[in-house]
Amino acid sequence: MSSPATATLIPITRPEIGEEEAQAAAEAVRSGWLSQGARVAEFEGALARRLGAAHVVAASNCTAALHLALLCAGVGPGDEVILPSFTFIATANAVLYVGAHPVFVDIDPRTYNVDPAAVAAALTPRTRAIIPVDQIGLAAELDPLLALARQHGLALVEDAAPAIGATYRGRPLGGISPLTCFSFHPRKTLTTGEGGALATDDAALAQRARVLRSHGASVSDFARHQAAAVTLETYEQLGYNYRMTDIQAAIGLVQLRRLDDILARRGRLAARYSDALAEWEGIVPPYAPAHAPHTYQSYCIRLTGSHSAKRDQVMAHMLAAGVATRRGVMAIHEEPYYVARFGSCSLPETEAAARETLLLPLYASMSEAEQDRVLAALRAALDAD
Ligand SMILES: Cc1ncc(COP(=O)(O)O)c(C=O)c1O
Repeated sequence: MSSPATATLIPITRPEIGEEEAQAAAEAVRSGWLSQGARVAEFEGALARRLGAAHVVAASNCTAALHLALLCAGVGPGDEVILPSFTFIATANAVLYVGAHPVFVDIDPRTYNVDPAAVAAALTPRTRAIIPVDQIGLAAELDPLLALARQHGLALVEDAAPAIGATYRGRPLGGISPLTCFSFHPRKTLTTGEGGALATDDAALAQRARVLRSHGASVSDFARHQAAAVTLETYEQLGYNYRMTDIQAAIGLVQLRRLDDILARRGRLAARYSDALAEWEGIVPPYAPAHAPHTYQSYCIRLTGSHSAKRDQVMAHMLAAGVATRRGVMAIHEEPYYVARFGSCSLPETEAAARETLLLPLYASMSEAEQDRVLAALRAALDAD
């Protein structure tokens, strides 16, 4: 096997970012106002219109947005929060940041999203919130989860980190749940370098999030800068520095204008992968129910049958052939920090998915030739002893 260093590596992703974003970032730099100013406000407004949400609060990243959302929902020490374990570790870490107890539940093995029946079975008198995750760009089964939350008086914080642009029953994510958080990390479909946002229809929650993201200050720097009279802020609660910069927001505004094109190109490439893999024995391509079209933040396949035990070997073979892959998400309840702190629990569907799934390279600018190279490397890796 040749070393990946000698082949031209096909990366797991490439941010779809270019000259227009560079220009916008440069203009933000030249404007002289760098952090959470007019461009952040403009990005929030544009995002709110796109999502169909009344309010968007930008943040430094999605983990910060999740932390803010849980604080705004009043989740705290002694509370239980139900969430999938098959998600990025940040979802659960945010629960720990507010001192609450994560209760991990299993997933639907077809969608890799949390199973609403498992959520219902995990409810206790201490349950305070549910965090569904729109995993890998596919909306979680929101209707039964929203109904559960309503019926039991729970907060619902949707982790839509990987799912900007996704819809559920025809409506964009961000305008459905009481609080929805997005990530703009470079692995995501829309990127601002680092970045995140919280969407809500609740004006009071949005206002609380705005205060908390900027040290708990009653008046923002930008508002004080614009005020005609000297304005002194007060600090009435413990806040954080979770601000987005205007440089990030300037990039985000360009990315938002390009979002539909990026989604369409990724969708076409994903469909091409699925067509090619349809007849491959022991490979399960991504599934998406008709009411929740997939946005393919990543293209996740599952190895089954005689391939099911070879995932790590397949990844190693593909890397040696110059093709980057990643494991398909993770099982948080199996990570050392969580085992040490909470002990072990059994989530069979999560554990199997974490063992058997992998992500293939996907990015809007990917050529068909690159995609064919990925498929050839996968074929060779599966056929290798
Ligand atoms: C499901 C999920 N939640 C939260 C995050 C955290 O996002 P960020 O890196 O913007 O903090 C990610 C990022 O990968 C994610 O995939």
